[in-house]
Amino acid sequence: MTNTTQQPRHFLSLLDLTPAELHKIIHRAIELKAILRKGERHESLKNRTLGMVFEKSSTRTRVSFEAGMTHLGGKAIFLSPRDTQLGRGEPIEDTARVLSRMVDCIMVRTYKQSDLALFATHSKVPVINALTDLFHPLQLLADIQTWFEQRGDIKGKTVLWVGDGNNMCHSYINAAKQFDFKLHIACPEGFDPEAAVLASAKAHCEIIRDPLAAAKNVDLVVTDVWASMGQEEEQAKRERAFANYQVNDALMNQAHKDALFMHCLPAHRGEEVTASVIDRADSIVWEEAENRMHSQKALLEFLING
Ligand code: CP
Ligand code: NVA
Repeated sequence: MTNTTQQPRHFLSLLDLTPAELHKIIHRAIELKAILRKGERHESLKNRTLGMVFEKSSTRTRVSFEAGMTHLGGKAIFLSPRDTQLGRGEPIEDTARVLSRMVDCIMVRTYKQSDLALFATHSKVPVINALTDLFHPLQLLADIQTWFEQRGDIKGKTVLWVGDGNNMCHSYINAAKQFDFKLHIACPEGFDPEAAVLASAKAHCEIIRDPLAAAKNVDLVVTDVWASMGQEEEQAKRERAFANYQVNDALMNQAHKDALFMHCLPAHRGEEVTASVIDRADSIVWEEAENRMHSQKALLEFLING
């Protein structure tokens, strides 16, 4: 395992890395994808172990990390609250102290950002935010990689976020600052992103209530579920609040003619997005999902190997 007396670098939000470091990871992700496609072996994390603490469900995050560690010659260990002492009340601090003496990096998917930060404070190895109620920075690495592959640099482009001012929206706000693009946020009143998150990227973001007006000439349209994990009981109330915030053909017709559509998935067709938008023949959401694996491999190399 990593043996260092220095404080490890963590990835708790996109703001933990510099714009230059983020760009480096995106380029490395594209390179690692090409290496894999050529069928070459690249075991840069041989004998390294990733601990994966999941307090919420996951398909993409879990599988992309497990497959990614396998490609790089390492191993990933899945830890659910059902089977660990964390789920029976062992303190976060103690869990972090113990796991970080055994593994080289730890990803955590949990509810509160403050619990993740507490975990990181007591970890001797890098800690990765694999989704909290506040942020989902891993998804942004994949989304930005996908944009770079399809269209080149995102600097100066305009992105539209439609829907809830949630963890994904917050990470888009951070990304707007770090990758220097403009972000239109079309959300109904009462579902704005957190003021503090917005304040950190004020010059890059604008809330526009009317989704059709917000979509005018944008280069990329992004949305997410109306009820995130942990908000299941608000589903009906949210369906009413977000009824006019669906990404459909009428909205996409307002965007630039070459505009792309992204969604972190899982998607609810007929709610936040219509099948006609997400299931187009040239839809890039599947490439976007695959890029979770490539970009996380690049991030793991960066955090573990430096
Ligand atoms: N987009 C995403 O994080 O998917 P999972 O919840 O399946 O990991
Ligand atoms: N906002 C969603 C993202 C899922 C990947 C949630 O937190 O459930």
